[in-house]
Amino acid sequence: MGDKLEKVLLSEEDIRAGIARLAAAVDADYDGEELLLVGVLNGALMVMADLSRALHNPITLDWMAISSYGAGTKSSGVVRILKDLDTDIKGKHVLVVEDIIDSGLTLSWLLSNLRQRQPASLEVCTLLRKPDAAKVQIDVKYVGFDIPNDFVVGYGLDYDQRFRNLPFIGLLAPHVYS
Ligand code: IMP
Ligand code: MG
Repeated sequence: MGDKLEKVLLSEEDIRAGIARLAAAVDADYDGEELLLVGVLNGALMVMADLSRALHNPITLDWMAISSYGAGTKSSGVVRILKDLDTDIKGKHVLVVEDIIDSGLTLSWLLSNLRQRQPASLEVCTLLRKPDAAKVQIDVKYVGFDIPNDFVVGYGLDYDQRFRNLPFIGLLAPHVYS
């Protein structure tokens, strides 16, 4: 990684433990119910792969791709659907799977969009959340880790589409994006 990363924030082991905790909570809450996991591309790819494998309850998977960022490090709140769900979620138990909640603007837009499709229930599971960056209040039922308000990469998270393949989560060195 050279000088691109300042430090490792969450190791592979930390992430594995966090995912196991989330999966146990989801399994307990949806016991006996079929659950549809909705992953938000591209960031949630690793969380979806690992969370879905850690769950014991029956699930199905679907994906949405939305864009809110461009190449910068700040959310615009302007969201576009790049790929919609293949599934009709009406009457289904839906769990949105996210990599990170920063300002919350993207997720808040997504939740009101999905709510209009009348799912039986709609909850959110995110690996990471930055409480100090919140611009809107969102009820998030499952949170892996609350982290400081710094830009992180790895385990699905990118800077300008790079670093998604890192198996850990690292702090991007400020000189990379300033
Ligand atoms: P929000 O609308 O500000 O909550 O931003 C949500 C989206 O921005 C996330 O799903 C990520 O794709 C991206 N994002 C926010 N913070 C970071 C970060 O620290 N690293 C990489 N991507 C981020
Ligand atoms: Mg995302």
